[in-house]
Amino acid sequence: MDQVQLISERLKNKTILVTGGAGFIGSNLTEALLKIGASVIVLDSLETGLQANVDRLSHYPNYRFVEGDICNPDDYRHLLKEVDAISNQAGLGSVPRSIELPLNTHRVNTTGFLTILHEAKEANVKRFVYASSSSVYGDSQASPKHEGDVGKVLSPYAVTKLMNEEYGHVYHQLHGMETIGMRYFNVFGPFQDSEGVYAAAIPTFLDKMLHGGEIVVNGDGEQSRDFTYVKNAVHANLLSLITENEEAFGQVYNVACGRSLTLNTVIKNLKDGLEELGTASKHTLTYGPDRKGDIRDSLASTAKMEQYLNYKPVYTFEEGVHEYLRHVLQCK
Ligand SMILES: NC(=O)c1ccc[n+]([C@@H]2O[C@H](COP(=O)([O-])OP(=O)(O)OC[C@H]3O[C@@H](n4cnc5c(N)ncnc54)[C@H](O)[C@@H]3O)[C@@H](O)[C@H]2O)c1
Repeated sequence: MDQVQLISERLKNKTILVTGGAGFIGSNLTEALLKIGASVIVLDSLETGLQANVDRLSHYPNYRFVEGDICNPDDYRHLLKEVDAISNQAGLGSVPRSIELPLNTHRVNTTGFLTILHEAKEANVKRFVYASSSSVYGDSQASPKHEGDVGKVLSPYAVTKLMNEEYGHVYHQLHGMETIGMRYFNVFGPFQDSEGVYAAAIPTFLDKMLHGGEIVVNGDGEQSRDFTYVKNAVHANLLSLITENEEAFGQVYNVACGRSLTLNTVIKNLKDGLEELGTASKHTLTYGPDRKGDIRDSLASTAKMEQYLNYKPVYTFEEGVHEYLRHVLQCK
């Protein structure tokens, strides 16, 4: 049986609670789960996510949406009885947001995380996959970054993700929970928010290219990141939901492509990709000051997830960009 069949076989009769399922990664994961026949309950406060991201999935009979807050167990305690596993994608992303509004980020990412982790334990939902972030590497200069590398974290956001990982580990040790942390590296793709000051780089660039406007690059644009197409992140989550490898639990894994590109290269790729699809870019480009809390370069090793979970990226950066651009142009 190949990996795709195995994933489908193990998940098709399961019920998964996807928190943050109206957000970018969560809605892509929800769609993938529904396609393979799993039942999905999305729990989302709609704080940053969009109802439209999941309304498009409402034709699946085994899909349910519950508006609620991971910080408030009354919103979801009753659901946990029917759930086989939780994928916790709810969170407040963005390093700049966490610098400006640290208490909001702390409340959702740390208190909310511990609240739902503890509720899962009480309800005997053992499998708990959750979103962490490459920001936990902080100022580590290691390249590529392996999960054992440590640095001093650079933002309140990174502190919250580090705490998630510690709680994930402790709940595995103390209670035998099957926790698995996903250290996402700069995920991009369909349904990623391009609006607002806290939007990520790629959707923001693309928005300016399509609708006109100034792309302001922080710094000289030569900072590099391991940009990861969302379908790789979804694949990593599915493998984490199905694994029977006892050694995989209580651990964290880099979710990445294993290749880094500078922002300047990404901008060129997006522009050229649009042109190949017959759309001229309308943006202008300027360079501004470096951004606080940012690291210069970020490249992941994906060896650990390959060893424990049989993960290999399913999309290269270029394949991801191509699919993403086609999606965005179709929706225009
Ligand atoms: N996108 C990336 O590149 C990236 C990188 C590293 C880590 N992450 C982490 O992955 C997770 C998903 O990120 P995303 O890019 O899909 O973000 P997103 O903002 O698109 O999705 C997050 C979702 O969580 C929901 N949410 C927020 N607070 C909530 C609460 N208290 N209760 C229930 N739902 C709540 C939001 O409404 C939203 O739908 C986040 O935890 C984020 O920190 C993302």
